[in-house]
Amino acid sequence: MKRIVVFTGAGISVESGLPTFRGSDGLWEGHRIEDVATPETWSRNPELVQSFYNKRRTDCLAANPNKAHHKLAELEKDFDVHIITQNIDDLHERAGSKNVIHLHGQIRKSQSSIDPNLIYDIEGDKIDMGDNCELGSQLRPHVVWFGEPVPMMNEAYKLAKSADVFVTIGTSLQVYPAANLIYETKPDCKLILIDPNAEQYHVPPVVVKISEKASVGVDYLAKLIAK
Ligand code: APR
Repeated sequence: MKRIVVFTGAGISVESGLPTFRGSDGLWEGHRIEDVATPETWSRNPELVQSFYNKRRTDCLAANPNKAHHKLAELEKDFDVHIITQNIDDLHERAGSKNVIHLHGQIRKSQSSIDPNLIYDIEGDKIDMGDNCELGSQLRPHVVWFGEPVPMMNEAYKLAKSADVFVTIGTSLQVYPAANLIYETKPDCKLILIDPNAEQYHVPPVVVKISEKASVGVDYLAKLIAK
């Protein structure tokens, strides 16, 4: 069965009502994501970081998967589909995708601030200051912040290397090491990029660019991989 590896970013969830990080609406109360999502900001101002992610969690719970998430889940009927997402929302899973790895963590989970291996499901939509892990340290969002290691990266590289088709959807390809994945693919792997701003992105010339929003791009994708 043909293996399709799909690498997604914030753009795939835009049609579910979740904003991107770097679009014109990409600021949160005047803060850039690069200023909020760091261990340094957590040390200096944990309340700010907690409330940023509490808001994102509320938004995520209120959102539903869109046509693009559903179409990728449907492709599993005919292909061996694996999703590598940079998104912390759970919209791929809720659409029914079975093989999803989250490179940058999951908003519906918390983790110990002293032992990243202690990870918990969050009941409801908030982590409050004073909510502690079993070791007695403050719980933080289970997300990978700038400057932190990306524990799922090796698994993602392996998937990229094994792809017959590697599809990138809705990411500005600005955050590393995730943005390197496309360069890990086999020489004969078919490369497809779906993004309304696809033409702006510098990727190998063999990449087929589909300059559409995700919900439209996935229909072209289905036709391209059927060949
Ligand atoms: N469909 C598809 N793509 C879209 C849509 C849409 N409807 N609307 C916007 N986009 C595209 C934009 O053109 C842009 O290329 O989505 C992309 C979003 O880019 P970013 O906001 O930079 O998000 P992303 O690439 O996922 O960010 C990567 O950065 O902040 C960190 O850890 C965070 O995982 C995140 C990482």
